[in-house]
Amino acid sequence: MAHRIAVIGGDGIGPEVTAEAIKVMQAVGVPLALTHYDLGGKRYLRDGEILSDATLAELRGYDAILLGAVGTPEVPPGVIERGLLLKMRFDLDLYVNQRPFAGTGPGHSEPHDFVVIRENTEGPYVGEGGVLRKGTPHEVATQGSVNTRMGAERAIRHAFDLAMKRRKHVTLVHKTNVLTFAGDLWMRAFEEVAAEYPQVGTAYNHVDAACIYFVQDPHRYDVVVTDNLFGDILTDLGGAVSGGVGLASSANLNPARTGPSMFEPVHGSAPDIVGTGKADPRAAILSAALMIDFLGESAAAERIRAACAEPVSGSTTEIGSQISSRVAG
Ligand code: IPM
Ligand code: MN
Repeated sequence: MAHRIAVIGGDGIGPEVTAEAIKVMQAVGVPLALTHYDLGGKRYLRDGEILSDATLAELRGYDAILLGAVGTPEVPPGVIERGLLLKMRFDLDLYVNQRPFAGTGPGHSEPHDFVVIRENTEGPYVGEGGVLRKGTPHEVATQGSVNTRMGAERAIRHAFDLAMKRRKHVTLVHKTNVLTFAGDLWMRAFEEVAAEYPQVGTAYNHVDAACIYFVQDPHRYDVVVTDNLFGDILTDLGGAVSGGVGLASSANLNPARTGPSMFEPVHGSAPDIVGTGKADPRAAILSAALMIDFLGESAAAERIRAACAEPVSGSTTEIGSQISSRVAG
């Protein structure tokens, strides 16, 4: 039976790279029933819809959501991010943001292969806090980081489950030496979950040190688990040391499968290169591979990953066609 996919191409290069991801999935022969949703900054400017409750309710009915990129310079920062992307992550309970990094870092000769598990529903992203005395010299802004035991634990548990299928090692990244309340909650949750997985080795890095290791010694990592904001920052760095953000894919997962998961490249809508053919579609194509893998099509996903690992050249559509012909073989 065909997998029912909601496609949100979005803004900027989003629709361009998403079209190539669809082309590759069709070439590999995975049965898909696609429904396109016109959402993002451009749609918002046209009629004010960001993501209505009715649209969100429809999205809940799909097997998965494939997203290109959203955001346009004409809309102030935060509106589309909060109203669309974070709303989907929170309301669909996509509590794991899984971001794989495979490549050879600058200055290295051996490839690395690690995965970052970013908690995806908490931290400073929840929007706790507010502003007082705005526009005066006494203006105050607070933005609290929300950490629940349940939220940390379920992300950590996912990291250990994943490590069991890989090289059996999990590193917690946090800042326990300064963020003593949140850090203590995360550390205790980590130690208690780790005790249930005696076969899995563990390590802990402060986030600042992890930034050095990502560059200088990425081979030490198998699975990294961290909070929402550290994970946001670290995964851009992960992309930068793994062939660039043009290759960085991500899965916003509801591992409990109580609803659809959402798959998107790590990069943004890049309005400066829209229409030039310069956008690398591989991050979107690899995100589609994560999607079909999660839907049980692991052999097809592996073929797409292998095709993306070979050199590519040309424009957005030419790269999509090259990879399509490799997977069709
Ligand atoms: C990401 C992005 C988003 C985030 C933005 C666009 C809200 O940077 O997916 O990493 O901060 O999570
Ligand atoms: Mn980010």
